[in-house]
Amino acid sequence: MTGFITVILAAGKGTRMKSAHPKVLHKVCGKEMARHVLDAAKAAGARRNIVVVGFGAEEVRTALGDAEIVVQEEQLGTGHAVLQTEPLLRDEKGTVVVLCGDTPLLTDGLVKKLCEEHEKSGAKATVLTAIMPDATGYGRVIRTAAGDVEKIVEHKDATEAERAVREVNSGIYCFDKEALFSALKEVGCDNAQGEYYLPDVLSILRARGEKIWAAAADDYEETLGVNSRAQLAEAEKILRRRKNLALMESGVTLMDPESTFIDVDVEIGRDTVIYPFTWLEGKTSVGEGCTLGPSSRFSDVKIGDKVTAHFVYAHECEIADGVTMGPFVHIRPDSHIAKDVKIGNFVEVKNSTVGEGSKLPHLQYIGDCDMGAGVNMGCGTITVNYDGKTKFRTKIGDNAFVGCNSNLVAPVSVGNGAYVAAGSTITKDVPPDDLAVARARQKNIPNWPDKRK
Ligand code: UD1
Ligand code: CA
Repeated sequence: MTGFITVILAAGKGTRMKSAHPKVLHKVCGKEMARHVLDAAKAAGARRNIVVVGFGAEEVRTALGDAEIVVQEEQLGTGHAVLQTEPLLRDEKGTVVVLCGDTPLLTDGLVKKLCEEHEKSGAKATVLTAIMPDATGYGRVIRTAAGDVEKIVEHKDATEAERAVREVNSGIYCFDKEALFSALKEVGCDNAQGEYYLPDVLSILRARGEKIWAAAADDYEETLGVNSRAQLAEAEKILRRRKNLALMESGVTLMDPESTFIDVDVEIGRDTVIYPFTWLEGKTSVGEGCTLGPSSRFSDVKIGDKVTAHFVYAHECEIADGVTMGPFVHIRPDSHIAKDVKIGNFVEVKNSTVGEGSKLPHLQYIGDCDMGAGVNMGCGTITVNYDGKTKFRTKIGDNAFVGCNSNLVAPVSVGNGAYVAAGSTITKDVPPDDLAVARARQKNIPNWPDKRK
């Protein structure tokens, strides 16, 4: 069988994160670290991906449901973690790529490159190394005078001289499967952390006279391991920069990339312009020629072409072509805003459909409403959708005109082309083309100051 298998280590607690959740589920650019690694492995062409879970196993299993999962009951070290996959790999031959769940910047290109070098070298084990500006915390790659890899020494076990080495173990390796598991059985735990270290496999194989090899990453950033919140923020910054550059190269204008926050899976069409302090999160997609921001946030929103939005927060909703929104607009889940709708100042829409070309220009609350096309909602009109126990829907027909400061008390409907007089509280259905007036008649009392006396 061709192709390779990956083992992704994700059982550690990540003590240094000081978190109730497993470290590998902390997000970088909107995606869990271990998910970044799994996606890179898949894109590189892995034919099987096995994730070793332990701390918070169920949480990790849920997040990475598309991988094979094996549980490491006690976290006794990276070598012990890999050993847990042995039963699953009994009938396999060839290359096993070991990846760490805490290296979110890894790319599929680098995984491929490592596999190619491993194959070319004919080694039993190839470790991916990188030159780190600050190697603190990493295992150091110790080479012989001839330049061959002799061993890897963990930071906590290293001498002063070894700590001065800036070439580090990325925690990413290719192994010949048979050699890996036979060497793992010899790995001990007589070290500073009392753990079974996976990197010890390299020196064990070397002592047996097997060939081991090191492949150097061109860009150390791709191999950054995240052990702390500070490193999480560093990884976040690098990935955001990578994403923003790719978007600009594809024809998107970012007025200030440093203050624009776009998750990795977000798609944006060309000639869209994004103003500062704008967040585009999760599965958001944006069409062409839009102007978004400043100070807007979109989470899991499908946005069409030529949409304008400033000072808007929208989540889990759909916004069609040509819609203009803002300032100060909140579009809540399950809302569908059709083409050319205008949503103005201080408006909230929830679980509602707003039909083509309708106008919500100022101070509306539209909740649980099915609104047709060409509707004009006067300033301050609201749907009264909740009686304290149950939510009810409001229906507003095409081309209806709802006067300012009206309450539509659901369940209620306003027919096509109907009018509602300003200041009305509508509790009964309004037939099409009728005018509904539901307010007390005005009475003027002349010469009031005299009468007051
Ligand atoms: C590890 C390497 C180090 C390397 C660094 C690169 C070892 C002993 N050290 O150190 O040489 O420079 O990665 O980032 O391998 N894990 C398990 N089970 C365990 C222990 C860890 O699954 O029992 C997982 C963790 O969840 C993590 C990965 O293995 O995803 C690496 O563990 P971590 O504790 O972060 O190792 P480092 O100290 O960073
Ligand atoms: Ca690590």
